[in-house]
Amino acid sequence: MGICWSNKIKSVSPSNTGYNGSSSKASSSSMPITPRSEGEILQSCNLSSISFSELKNATRNFRPDSVLGDGGFGSVFKGWIDESTLIATKAGSGMVIAVKRLNQDGFQGHKEWLTEINYLGQLQHPNLVKLIGYCLEDEHRLLVYEFMPKGSMENHLFRRSTHFQPLSWTLRMKIALGAAKGLAFLHNAEQQVIHRDFKSANILLDSNYNAKLADFGLARDGPTGDKSHVSTRVIGTQGYAAPEYLATGHLTAKSDIYSFGVVLLEMLSGRRAIDRNRPTGEHNLVEWAKPYLVDKRRVLRVIDPRLEGQYSFNRAQKAANLALECLSTDSKYRPDMNEVVTTLEQLQDTTKNMPKGTQKEHHATSNGLSNNAPRSHRSSTNDAPNRVTVNYPRPSANPLFA
Ligand SMILES: Nc1ncnc2c1ncn2[C@@H]1O[C@H](COP(=O)(O)OP(=O)(O)OP(=O)(O)O)[C@@H](O)[C@H]1O
Ligand SMILES: [Mg+2]
Repeated sequence: MGICWSNKIKSVSPSNTGYNGSSSKASSSSMPITPRSEGEILQSCNLSSISFSELKNATRNFRPDSVLGDGGFGSVFKGWIDESTLIATKAGSGMVIAVKRLNQDGFQGHKEWLTEINYLGQLQHPNLVKLIGYCLEDEHRLLVYEFMPKGSMENHLFRRSTHFQPLSWTLRMKIALGAAKGLAFLHNAEQQVIHRDFKSANILLDSNYNAKLADFGLARDGPTGDKSHVSTRVIGTQGYAAPEYLATGHLTAKSDIYSFGVVLLEMLSGRRAIDRNRPTGEHNLVEWAKPYLVDKRRVLRVIDPRLEGQYSFNRAQKAANLALECLSTDSKYRPDMNEVVTTLEQLQDTTKNMPKGTQKEHHATSNGLSNNAPRSHRSSTNDAPNRVTVNYPRPSANPLFA
């Protein structure tokens, strides 16, 4: 959930003149989400109200060394509470929680805070992060979530540190499927929900790398009938928003599908959606990757070199093709989330997905040559029987995410 920082698209008027990347601090959403009052939302949300002093104790007075991360909304702290009474417990005992505290420079985030409660207070699914409670006291606005031990996928994909070793191909496909299931759940709900801020930072991981979607502060109800919403102001995160939404403000579930395509591409390539540290022509991941994605002979150039030897050409091509479809400029050519889930299920490393006699797949390298990894590099975990893979380091534990 975010308010204002460099990559956030906040309150940009849709324009056919193109996206201007504004990060102005103007108010966030252009229209009411679900037209319910604050009182109605807080009363009907099935969430616990937790006092500020309890959360202060739970996080040891918001100690800097318990910060799990920072976002546009504010900082997220690790804390401990008793599971049934929700009273603060000693660090290391009781239930671990993540406490998101809204920056106190005004009330800019109040609407996102309430929207998060509105949606996560009603929606529950194994692939959505669980919101446990909230705090609304004087100027304080906090949200209390289940703790996700492996943090965000963004950290695993892009952070270069000993705490975050590169994710293996198998784990990337597993996470992509989990995230897709979360999005499919939102899109298939009786009252469809559009996330509007789907990105790798908003995919959190549990200890088994199950993906859960977070940050519903920009979400809104899907359109009814075959209409689409027209926003007077476009919000989201730069690099992830669909072109038609940026240009016209037309919002449908297909905008989320585009964002999913960007995230899948980030996972396949190990590159950020927007990276100004790369050479000219490579700043925008989609623009850089598209010419390769459409060319069967060059498609492997997109794949993260750190994955070499871990995937077969067929699977890499299928995954790249899925990303390309999601990224179709014309939204009608994008698949829906059910189709995305079906394709990703076929890309999982399960014995069921391995045709007879092909368990030893030919593994591809970025130059397109077959590269069966040597026997000594076989991985014993997380791969289908007989799967030949290089032995890939698992992300090691960051003390905070232990
Ligand atoms: N439930 C959670 N469990 C564990 N860590 C969390 C949890 N929620 C957030 N975090 C950590 O806090 C960081 C900041 O999260 P936050 O949602 O505030 O910002 P962000 O997702 O990075 O950016 P944005 O503001 O665009 O959403 C995350 O990247 C993650 O590392
Ligand atoms: Mg987030």
